[in-house]
Amino acid sequence: MKGIILAGGSGSRLYPITKVYSKQLAVIYDKPLIYYPLSVLMLAGIKEVLIISNEETIPHYQKLFDDGSHLGMKIEYKLQTAPRGIAESFILGDEFIGNDDVCLILGDNIFFGELTFFYDSVKNFSKGAKIFGYRVTDPERYGIVQFDKTGTVLSIEEKPKNPKSDYAVPGLYIYDNSVIEISKNLKPSARGELEITDVNNEYLKIKELKVETIGRGVAWLDTGTPAALLQASNFFGVIEERQGLKVACIEEIAFNKGFISTEQFRTVLDNMPNSMYKNYLEKVYSDFIDN
Ligand code: G1P
Repeated sequence: MKGIILAGGSGSRLYPITKVYSKQLAVIYDKPLIYYPLSVLMLAGIKEVLIISNEETIPHYQKLFDDGSHLGMKIEYKLQTAPRGIAESFILGDEFIGNDDVCLILGDNIFFGELTFFYDSVKNFSKGAKIFGYRVTDPERYGIVQFDKTGTVLSIEEKPKNPKSDYAVPGLYIYDNSVIEISKNLKPSARGELEITDVNNEYLKIKELKVETIGRGVAWLDTGTPAALLQASNFFGVIEERQGLKVACIEEIAFNKGFISTEQFRTVLDNMPNSMYKNYLEKVYSDFIDN
């Protein structure tokens, strides 16, 4: 299973935060937004990741993650020259995906809580498409999935004016390799984009779309407005201060998941400037050494 993070977009709604680079670098409490979706892929055991973004922002991601080897990963970058839609990820990622299955996460989507719905979906994935449904109060802003009483999908619509359900499709999708061909055959929508909802509808047509609802114990946070960014920062500030544990700390995850050895973790720490972030990781390291 390969992973793609789509982290481009014009981000014009967050101007001027997004005047110099894309919003996935906005700070959520103590780290850039993109750490959160990257950590979700890592926690599912995905080590090969392609980050798709625009010309201005790719160098910043490269500075953050390099080639990923210090995390025991392989991180590559691909340019999206204009925001032509989420489904373009699979066309741009064609070579990277190769013959594998692929999981796409949007670089501005934050998930927090017990994410077994996702880890198990990655582990047990065989074919078709797997998406999720999450109850929201503002369904007209999202892709919306409608089910019947038995849980069978009846429809998926992109930002419907009259939503047929309250279940939004979060920006976390798992596809088999045919997603590349499906995306190449899509026509742009009225807003000029290759819509991920159209990809999902293709899988629905051939009865290969599976949807699982995400329970209320999981937080799927919005990052589309300054208020939402502040709420997300406050949310993680509260959790991290209370527990003394960091969320989406990619070096800790790489170590805990066995992506890197104790020696490699030590080297990562030695190369990190003095900071609260480093102090935290030093504690993770010494707790491990002492036990
Ligand atoms: C996109 C998708 C939509 C999905 C949402 C999740 O919306 O088109 O189906 O529900 O991401 O964040 P956009 O961010 O393009 O408004």
